Amino acid sequence: MAVFGLAAGLMFVLTGCGRTGEREKNSIKIGVSVYDQYDTFIAQLMESLEEAVKEKEMETGGSITLEVQNAAGSQSEQNNQIEDFIHSGCDVVCVNLVDRTDPTMIIDKAKSADVPVIFFNRELVEEDLERWEKLYYVGAVTLESGIMQGEIVAEAYKDYGKRLDKNGDGILQYVMLEGEAGHQDAIIRTEYSVNTIIEAGIPVEKLGHAIANWNRGQAQSKMQQWMETFGDKIELVLSNNDDMALGAIDAYKAAEIPLSEYPFIAGIDGTKVGLEAIQEGSLGATVFNDGAGQAKEMLKLAYDLAADKSLADVEYMEGRYVRLPHQKVRWKE
Ligand code: GAL
Repeated sequence: MAVFGLAAGLMFVLTGCGRTGEREKNSIKIGVSVYDQYDTFIAQLMESLEEAVKEKEMETGGSITLEVQNAAGSQSEQNNQIEDFIHSGCDVVCVNLVDRTDPTMIIDKAKSADVPVIFFNRELVEEDLERWEKLYYVGAVTLESGIMQGEIVAEAYKDYGKRLDKNGDGILQYVMLEGEAGHQDAIIRTEYSVNTIIEAGIPVEKLGHAIANWNRGQAQSKMQQWMETFGDKIELVLSNNDDMALGAIDAYKAAEIPLSEYPFIAGIDGTKVGLEAIQEGSLGATVFNDGAGQAKEMLKLAYDLAADKSLADVEYMEGRYVRLPHQKVRWKE
């Protein structure tokens, strides 16, 4: 059971006696800290979380206070934010870790105050999650994103082979834009997308790879350098997320290269801007990472934990992990 913040003036009532230990509160408070509020996928996930809160309030008739803080890339700042959330009487905290290898302080503080923690999107290692039974993780089925990206490229190659393989040598010359070093998604996507293309029987040749930290501007400048070095030898751009793929597209737009001469560019996330680029035909493919679904499941879990209900309601839950599936999205003529 959470330590309820009476000091912060939170009110709660017991509504009848359901199963043992089950009860409803009419007012709960959730603290959320994100690693970077300007990250496109995270910003969209937070919008969805706010919508999910409104829906849940309508459904339950209770009130949910959502307090959101931006850690702006600092783990120590995030630790302080979580400490403040706990002191101000949050029933549950949701943490998008800055450094996914460094959750110790947060776990220790939450455990000593008996406040459950839902980590999301930036996955802590299993040994850390095992450190207390009130630690959870909500995210995506990580392996799937890289595999699906590779599969879409292979499907596109089968459909439009000659257009992808511009020089007709039967090999796809590619560059790889990688997310943050050490991020579980960057590691997995980088490895699995290429391996899946190779396993589908398509030979590839890597021209370059660079870390662009999920960031559109950084990706644009990397892409500009590659374009200067390799010109139209680049046939495929594999990007660990949509924002970096959009950065690559920005580089082609800035160089005034016609759309028909772009390489095949593949992202991951299916953000609003990513899907618009698919419509436009500049982004060849993406893999939909269901941030809205993750937000919804996270809210359900947070609500149930705060209300001390059984967690049977939460979909996609295995142990203390909630992982949502991806979907392939491809531009088609
Ligand atoms: C990934 C997402 C990236 C970025 C990152 C932040 O799952 O694909 O675009 O948002 O999370 O941790």
